Amino acid sequence: KDEKFKLLESKNQEALLGGGEKRIAAQHKRGKLTARERITLLVDDGSFEEIGKFVEHRATDFGLDKEVYLGDGVVTGYGTVNGRLIYLYSQDFTVFGGSLSETHAEKICKIMDLATKNGAPLIGLNDSGGARIQEGVVSLGGYADIFYRNTRASGVIPQISAIMGPCAGGAVYSPAITDFIFMVENTSYMFVTGPSVVKTVTQEDVTAEELGGASTHSSKSGVTHFSSANEVQCLNDIKRLLNYIPQNCEEDSPVYAYDEQDEIRPKLTDIIPENPNQPYDMHEVVEHLVDEDSFFEVHKNYAENIIVGFAKLGGRSIGIVGNQPASLAGVLDIDASVKGARFVRFCDSFNIPLLVLEDVPGFLPGTDQEWRGIITNGAKLLYAFAEATVPRITVITRKAYGGAYDVMNSKHIGADMNYAWPMAEIAVMGAKGAAEIIFKREIAAADDPEAKLQEKVDEYTAKFANPYRAARRGYVDEVISPDTTRLKLIRAFKMLENKVDSLPKKKHGNIPL
Ligand code: COA
Repeated sequence: KDEKFKLLESKNQEALLGGGEKRIAAQHKRGKLTARERITLLVDDGSFEEIGKFVEHRATDFGLDKEVYLGDGVVTGYGTVNGRLIYLYSQDFTVFGGSLSETHAEKICKIMDLATKNGAPLIGLNDSGGARIQEGVVSLGGYADIFYRNTRASGVIPQISAIMGPCAGGAVYSPAITDFIFMVENTSYMFVTGPSVVKTVTQEDVTAEELGGASTHSSKSGVTHFSSANEVQCLNDIKRLLNYIPQNCEEDSPVYAYDEQDEIRPKLTDIIPENPNQPYDMHEVVEHLVDEDSFFEVHKNYAENIIVGFAKLGGRSIGIVGNQPASLAGVLDIDASVKGARFVRFCDSFNIPLLVLEDVPGFLPGTDQEWRGIITNGAKLLYAFAEATVPRITVITRKAYGGAYDVMNSKHIGADMNYAWPMAEIAVMGAKGAAEIIFKREIAAADDPEAKLQEKVDEYTAKFANPYRAARRGYVDEVISPDTTRLKLIRAFKMLENKVDSLPKKKHGNIPL
């Protein structure tokens, strides 16, 4: 009997070592943690339960039958984060470079199935040299099995991917389908084809970091939602994200007990500059509206003309979408529309109410935008808001012009409440442009065209550069003093907490892609 326990003990020890001490040291030397160290940092102390620790690959070609490691390069299991269940897999770069074999994929699929059936988030810690080259098509099949499950689970459970090493070729498409990607600066990269293939095909010289590192994907491509300075911060950021989101599509996010206090925020009154063409930072508005230090920004360095992120308001999770006048005057362009749409759809999938802070002069004009499809891409944001059934509130802080007024969660496309600050300007277009068009002949015929133009601009401004025309029609429910906004929002979201709304029966909608 003792022998049997000893065998178990020695197998357990062997599994814990992955590819062995030497490779663990090499992993540390690269500035990376091991698969198991990452798990320890992610989950609550002592909560991790491993599944499939003794799985071995079945390959025999290229001498693989003589090179076998328990667990086959991925640690899978479940545990808790802040007391809430999560499922995870963590690829072990010390075993065949974390490459994905048939059995490695099977272990991941098993965890994905459990997560989906039991309704808890799936977290993938990726660190892999891609398909296990010695195995060929079974490894490719393994990827496809994972992609299929990612897609089926989309909108059912939150799926989070952390990239903590290489992630190249087909491997990128699992993270791409998941809800959020986290990358670690300088030690992780993602690309479809690496620098040497790029050189061959396009003659471009580019490093792995430039081509697909965290800073590239967090600012240029928008592929990653979060970029962290190191692995510890990355894992902490994942834990933070989990605090805002529910376990699955049938549940609500965690709520913290909150009693109404003094919710008046005088600072909000001073943020909007006197001159309507002067920028201000919408982050300041967010900061004074939400519970202290609760804003958790998503896609912080990408398409900065729109701000998206989670926050707590009166203890409840909300998703915030805000135009950012401090970047490109807050216009909507292709990147901002797609960024906003993706976030709105996540929130709607997972019952997270939406708050829109609107200050938008319109869509960005120009051939670049038109030829790259601002029409189709702008429509994504419109569609995402229009189909969202979660509680939705808009606050127009300043400008709401043109089609962008409709798109930014207007009442017409289903917003539940729409507030405006007294500085709001809600019109088809800016006063100067409007006057030049509708009074063109009158201005041309005037003795002093400049003076006439100014007169007409003033006339248009007086009529439309305010929130009262919209309020008169009920398109704005209430014009409010900025300092009362937090109070109004806490009450309105509470009023909407039992909202029931559903879409007409359909297979699925056809969002313009
Ligand atoms: N299949 C099998 N083994 C792999 C592998 C793969 N796809 N990728 C890496 N490995 C193994 C290496 O053979 C090496 O084994 P060893 O420890 O026995 O020496 C180990 O993993 C570490 O790889 P190494 O190349 O030494 O690490 P690195 O940090 O210098 O480079 C990569 C990492 C991922 C850039 C490099 O290994 C690579 O280019 N791998 C192939 C990527 C690829 O083309 N994958 C298939 C297409 S998806």
